[in-house]
Amino acid sequence: MIKKYLNKIIQGDCMELLKTIPDASVDVVFADPPFNLKKKYKSYQDGLEFKAYLDWCKSWITEMVRVTKPTGSIFVHNIPKWLTYYSAMLNEVANFKHWITWDAPSSPMGKSLQPAHYGILFYTKSKKGNKFYEIRHPHKRDRKTGYLVKDYGGKKDGLHPFGPLVSDVWTDIHRIKHIKFRDEHPCQLPIHLLERIILMTTDKDDTVLDPFSGTGTTAIAAKRLNRGYVGFELDKNYVSISNEKLNATTPISRLGNNWVSFYLNSVITIRDIDWEQLKSHYVIPKIARDIEYKKILLKSDDDRIDRSIHQLSTLEKSLFD
Ligand SMILES: C[S@@+](CC[C@H](N)C(=O)[O-])C[C@H]1O[C@@H](n2cnc3c(N)ncnc32)[C@H](O)[C@@H]1O
Repeated sequence: MIKKYLNKIIQGDCMELLKTIPDASVDVVFADPPFNLKKKYKSYQDGLEFKAYLDWCKSWITEMVRVTKPTGSIFVHNIPKWLTYYSAMLNEVANFKHWITWDAPSSPMGKSLQPAHYGILFYTKSKKGNKFYEIRHPHKRDRKTGYLVKDYGGKKDGLHPFGPLVSDVWTDIHRIKHIKFRDEHPCQLPIHLLERIILMTTDKDDTVLDPFSGTGTTAIAAKRLNRGYVGFELDKNYVSISNEKLNATTPISRLGNNWVSFYLNSVITIRDIDWEQLKSHYVIPKIARDIEYKKILLKSDDDRIDRSIHQLSTLEKSLFD
């Protein structure tokens, strides 16, 4: 990785900037490009002709794969329509792992099913030897009764106290809907979405590159997890919003010695291998079956919880008050 870019958001055209990055020098690349849906960006006209859009996408996708290390991963976020084309492009140059979907309900469009998810393509540079950590999310519970939503039948004695392994369908992370809680940007992603991806595919001090950085979500998630980051963004205003937020961000997504992802005052993603150490931070029912109706709780004397609340986004804080 070019040192002058490390831990910075660089203003400019990602196609030009990507070309200046050496081959196989980045651990993870995550791209959330404009969706060609005529969204109101400040510096970018989001309405190319069909073929022009796809040709442009192919050129940055090829660059993204080139700069990724042999142990690294490539993620591309978009609506399913464009991902079908991206997938065909990526199949030529990288190794398919998953098509992740995450919840994003939209308005009825007429004469079609109601779109209710975005997709994230997950590819690796190599067939073998890529960095990957299994991750867990908390059990889903009924809000009123606190009981587990999923029926574990006769398997309750084997319940993991924290929660199940994360699948390729993410229904526990939602779009930032309310305009007053967002930056002045039409499609900012939630930080904990990126934290999940980063926890799954990197180690501390690895570097994550986002060629369409927007208001800096990927960089903030990386910094919270003590990873390096590089962001490219065309719009000066988005770059300065990102820098402001990054200046106020510290490596806070941590419980003891382990990196985790918080949302509000709960941990919502952990690595499976960290559980042995993480469990000392929780009050856990002695009998595994009791987890069916009793949530495990973070010990209240854990000052990391207070510190993490300091760094919540405006949206998170407002929900907390
Ligand atoms: C979908 S948004 C990314 C949002 C980002 N994930 C976030 O959470 O803030 C796409 C971004 O790409 C930027 N962009 C468009 N064309 C670009 C280019 N050629 N190089 C760099 N950035 C570009 C737009 O200004 C916009 O901020």
